[in-house]
Amino acid sequence: MVPDVTSDPLAWLDDHAATRVTAGLRRQLRPRAAGSPALDLASNDYLGLTRHPEVRAGAIEAVRRWGAGSTGSRLVTGTTTDHELLEGELAEFTGFPAGLVFSSGYAANLGAVTALAGRGSLIVSDAGCHASLVDACRLSRARVAIAPHRNSTAVARLLADRSEEHALVLTDSVFSADGDLAPLTELHRVVRDHNALLLVDEAHGLGVRGHGGRGLVQETGLAGEPDVIVTVTLSKALAAQGGAVLGDERVRAHLIDTARTMIFDTGLAPAAVGAARAALRILRRDPGLGPRVLARAADIARIAGVAAPDSAVVPIILGDPQTAHDAAHTCREQDVEVGCFRPPSVPEGTSRLRLTARADLTPADLDTLTKVLVPVLTHARNSTTVPA
Ligand SMILES: Cc1ncc(COP(=O)(O)O)c(C=O)c1O
Repeated sequence: MVPDVTSDPLAWLDDHAATRVTAGLRRQLRPRAAGSPALDLASNDYLGLTRHPEVRAGAIEAVRRWGAGSTGSRLVTGTTTDHELLEGELAEFTGFPAGLVFSSGYAANLGAVTALAGRGSLIVSDAGCHASLVDACRLSRARVAIAPHRNSTAVARLLADRSEEHALVLTDSVFSADGDLAPLTELHRVVRDHNALLLVDEAHGLGVRGHGGRGLVQETGLAGEPDVIVTVTLSKALAAQGGAVLGDERVRAHLIDTARTMIFDTGLAPAAVGAARAALRILRRDPGLGPRVLARAADIARIAGVAAPDSAVVPIILGDPQTAHDAAHTCREQDVEVGCFRPPSVPEGTSRLRLTARADLTPADLDTLTKVLVPVLTHARNSTTVPA
């Protein structure tokens, strides 16, 4: 067949976009204006430190010293002495012998999983794991078994039935869509019984759970266990950008040799290193920050008429994507920024508003939220079917 050279090579994108419009799944970028008066209940700035003077100064001082970029990959020129200091400080804070910084939490997950599980090994992943862990499974070439959400009995069965020598169990500590917690104590027992490793993504746990914000792994007494590996992002509680893997010294050495998202990626920018170090210093100084996030999350849940969460994440399930989209839009029109999660980020029929708490929310912020959110939810709940 002779190709039709006059046809539009991107026409199929229009068809796909039309399908998403019909399904209420069109997404849009909404650039924030500097100095916007909007009340932020959508970001991951859990401790409210992004604009903290010390965090800004940490970033600025690092740029003064090192310049804007890290200049190369970690193994060539992209490791400064500040990267090394940050790794030591993160490891010490979370209770692990060693840490390795990546350019994002996403890259940390891809790097850790693909380095610790390859062809000939088994990965058992919780069905609710973050997309970066899902993608890591796909890249790893390991056999991947998905365990039902928060089900350590199913994990035990999958590990017991395996023929592979090496197995890696993956879970978020705090699941990002629902804000619920992984059963880490049971998972660790299962992992130990079956001679496997447990990788816990603490993206939403660090700064919020555990003593002084040291994370759910510390809270459950698993920090420093040799068969536990933790990944974190520096972009949520630590108010910067980047990620890290925390674990045994041998895990760090193995990742330096084999983690492709570290080897083939430019090192984390100095400004992010400086900002994260400053945020960590503030968190050490003020161990009440994490508990304050949980208290504000409980306030938000009360206003929304939903159960108090175990994390900063308050999901308000509305059912269909258009209802969730419209509710979020109405809140934004009134200068209240809320998240809106729709498939494929969450299962069909569970589209939702997703509000996140910050340690620095004031009583006036909560009053504003009440005025805006309560009528929006009344309207949304009258126009949608929330699944049982
Ligand atoms: C659970 C979880 N893991 C990993 C990531 C990725 O982290 P980063 O944004 O630093 O790439 C996120 C970020 O949204 C997350 O929520």
